This record gives sequence, structure tokens and C-alpha cells, in this order.
Amino acid sequence: MKNFKKIMFGVCAVMIMLVTPLFLVGCGGSSSDDDDNPWGLVNAGQLILATSADFPPFQSINDAGEYVGIDIDIAAAIADALGLELVVQNMDFAGVLLSLHTGQSDIVLSGMTITEARRAGADFTIPYFNSGQVLITHVNNNRLDGMNADQIRAAMAGQRIGAVAGQTGYDHAIALTGASNVQVFTDNITMMTAIQNGIIDYSIQGAVASHGLVANNPNLQVVNVALTDEQYGAAVRQGNTELLWQVNRVLSTMMLNGELADIFANHGISL
Ligand code: ARG
Repeated sequence: MKNFKKIMFGVCAVMIMLVTPLFLVGCGGSSSDDDDNPWGLVNAGQLILATSADFPPFQSINDAGEYVGIDIDIAAAIADALGLELVVQNMDFAGVLLSLHTGQSDIVLSGMTITEARRAGADFTIPYFNSGQVLITHVNNNRLDGMNADQIRAAMAGQRIGAVAGQTGYDHAIALTGASNVQVFTDNITMMTAIQNGIIDYSIQGAVASHGLVANNPNLQVVNVALTDEQYGAAVRQGNTELLWQVNRVLSTMMLNGELADIFANHGISL
């Protein structure tokens, strides 16, 4: 996680230089926005989070039916800092960014990788986590044991790889094995069952979430070699610069005062 620290300190320095003055200008200047709802929220007083709760430890549903995880806690901290009530909207990952446009949500935190393609339709915050993608496979499958990343990539030709619609893993899977060998799922839970039942050989997913997904499934294992390098960010509706500034301000404060690291630590991840 050294890289993460380097990124975070760099990011913090840049954010303090860039965001703080913008925020101050935003606060001090006269605004034409509605005074009751200056951040363009769907419902004034609420922060509606769109997430896909099949991605532990970032977001999942616990036995009591509650939404729990790192992203839920980060969103709660952001809502708290902005004096808003957090409302969680759970949906398929393929719909989370769309929900910003259709007025169903204000913010997305869903272990979402910041990509150029996604930037075309939403505004991303500063990154808050670095995550390479790894393979998950059946415990009986030991053909990748001892291989490095290049050897694993070469060994993926012709293998059946699962991916969730709209996720970066889908593009990675196609690059690894070709579109005809990629099977698309709507969620991670169904995809795990498919590996267990021998319908697919592998899935590709963020390293931390992969460990979260196999934790309760003794039939699955993580192939612990990162094949990609990705950064997670929160997203807001494109052009909602007021909310973006506020969220970046809160996130950078949480990075500097240790609150973000505490949230990760509470879920077993040391930054
Ligand atoms: N990081 C990947 C992406 O952005 C996967 C995210 C999956 N998140 C989830 N909540 N299921 O495409």
C-alpha cells in the first residue's frame, strides 16, 4: 500500500492548493443557486448514494439487512460533514452512473474505478483507494500457482472468464481471453456461484473485494497477483461542481486527519 500513501499525499497537497481556494471563492462569492439547495441535490437536506451492494468490504448487505462497508462509511462521513441525511439506493452496478442523470441519486460510491470513458458522463472526485484487479477461481484449480502477472495473462487464452456488466473487469476479461469466452453477469454474487458450479473458470475483480467475496466461500480462492492498476473515486452528476468541491474538500480533510485510514482499518484494510 506504499503507492497508495504516495498518491494520497500528492493528491492531498494538490487538493489543498486547488480545492480550498475554489471552495472559499464558492462560499464567499454571490451564487445564483437556490439558497435552500446550493449543491444541486435531488432532495435538499439529503445525500442520496447510489451503490451496488455486492462488493464487500466496500459495500454489502449484512445479516440484519443493513448496508455496510467502507464506501457506506465514507458516504456517511461526507453526509455528516455537509449536514445531510444519507440515503442509500442499492442497484446493479450497470445503473449507478445513470442514476445520477435520472435524478435518483446525488453521488456514487461503489468501488468505482476512475476511467476516461466514465469521465465523459460524470465528474469524479480525487481518488481514495488504489486497487489492482486479480482473478478468482475454484480452490481445485491450481494451474496458475507460482506464475507472475505475464505468465497468468498468457495462461488465460481460451479460459472462460466471468465479468459484471459495465465494470472495468469486463474490458480486462475480453483483453485476456477474447469476447467469445467472456460471460456477463449482473452482479458479483451470481458470478461467484458460477465459478463454484464450474460454469466459468475465473472472474476478474478488485483485489480487496475479491478477498471479501471469497471470505465466506470455502470453494473459491483468490489468485494473489495484480493484473491491473486502478483507482477508486466517488462520482457526481456531470457539471455539479458545487457538490464536487464539497466532497473533495471533505475527502481531502479525511485523508489528512486520518479518518479515511480509520474507516479502512475498521474493515480490516490498512492503508
Ligand atoms: N472497480 C470496478 C469498476 O469500477 C468494479 C466495481 C464493482 N463495484 C460494485 N459495487 N459491485 O468497474
